[in-house]
Amino acid sequence: MTQTDNHNAPILVTGGAGFIGSNFVTSWISNVGTPVVNLDKLTYAGNLENLAQLQGNPHHIFVQGDINDRKVIDQLLAAHQPRAIVHFAAESHVDRSIHGPEDFVVTNVNGTFHLLEAARAHWSKLPEPQKTDFRFLHVSTDEVYGSLSATDPAFTETTPYAPNSPYSASKAASDHLVRAYFHTYHMPVLTTNCSNNYGPFQFPEKLIPLIILNALAGKPLPVYGDGLNVRDWLFVLDHCDAIREVLKAGRPGETYNIGGNSEMKNIDVVKAICSILDELRSNSPHRPHASLIQYVKDRPGHDRRYAMDITKINRELSWSPKCSFTDGIRATVQWYLDHSTWIAHVASGEYRNWVEANYAKRG
Ligand code: NAD
Ligand code: DAU
Repeated sequence: MTQTDNHNAPILVTGGAGFIGSNFVTSWISNVGTPVVNLDKLTYAGNLENLAQLQGNPHHIFVQGDINDRKVIDQLLAAHQPRAIVHFAAESHVDRSIHGPEDFVVTNVNGTFHLLEAARAHWSKLPEPQKTDFRFLHVSTDEVYGSLSATDPAFTETTPYAPNSPYSASKAASDHLVRAYFHTYHMPVLTTNCSNNYGPFQFPEKLIPLIILNALAGKPLPVYGDGLNVRDWLFVLDHCDAIREVLKAGRPGETYNIGGNSEMKNIDVVKAICSILDELRSNSPHRPHASLIQYVKDRPGHDRRYAMDITKINRELSWSPKCSFTDGIRATVQWYLDHSTWIAHVASGEYRNWVEANYAKRG
């Protein structure tokens, strides 16, 4: 196989039916145009409706399966000979990790380990140049760095890890395993650590879609604690662009911070959504939507502030976010207004149970 042929080889994506994964798969097929094998367990967070626009597209090969199932991964690697693995699959919600941490260890730690082992067995037998060109890209989070005070400098790639929730601890453990596969086996791995994403297809357990859905329904808008916790927000398609750049030109063994240069207090995010809805739903009986805001009991161990220094990815790969928060949040609110069927389907049984479990005792 020549180098050119190898660039036309498929990539294997894990977790490609979730929020970021589905945006990544769709944007990969429209921007790069080579095939994607999409392995997803379809947990509560996985949703084939996120991939509806790829129905019938021969470049999208969906396989329902678990990253802990070594047999399935071995079969996929042997059958499709992907040139890269882009690993999104994870349990991703901090509040769920507080209610039940075990699934986070099973998927994020054990699952990443099994995927790494399968990748290593496959990669080590590849002939050149496929062996040198192979990449394992691990998608991680800024939360592994812990919490900042209002005046601390932003996280860099050398900030020591200090994860505070079972979610971030499980992601940190997986990051360390990935790092070890480079140092011990010289497997060509890359890790990206990204800040809070928002945009189309985000499951409404996360702040932004939860607030949009509750506001549309005239339900209370739950703000944890004093609402002054700060997150850095990145539009999901900017994250997908950054991952493609890291895959293309990132240096094996390196980690890259990705962020939106867009730090916001939670209460300001909620108020921004309310005022967009006031404008777009000008005859809603729930206007002004900000009157629905309710401060509720804080998240245990709630990290105060995250902020990302993205100098490295900007300097080495010329990536920077294109979408401002002002534009991205408006497009996101509009997307949810335009997708009531998608909302009706995801906001069914399991979601209602979660809302009851997480919010009933916060009031
Ligand atoms: P998500 O919860 O929306 O989707 C996760 C996907 O993984 C789902 O489709 C689910 O079915 C699948 N999955 C879960 N367990 C699996 C298993 N054992 N085997 C195969 N598939 C499995 O998550 P997301 O928000 O899209 O996040 C994707 C990745 O990006 C995660 O690794 C997360 O840690 C990371 N990340 C997320 C954000 C964010 O703001 N959402 C920010 C930075 C990094
Ligand atoms: O920073 C990256 C991380 O961002 C990702 O690694 C995680 O997968 C992703 O879930 C997200 O984690 P957060 O905990 O920051 O996101 P969440 O949307 O759950 O919460 C954002 C902020 O809003 C946080 O400070 C908690 C607060 N919040 C959240 C919910 C669900 C509320 O005030 N009320 C709520 O009801």
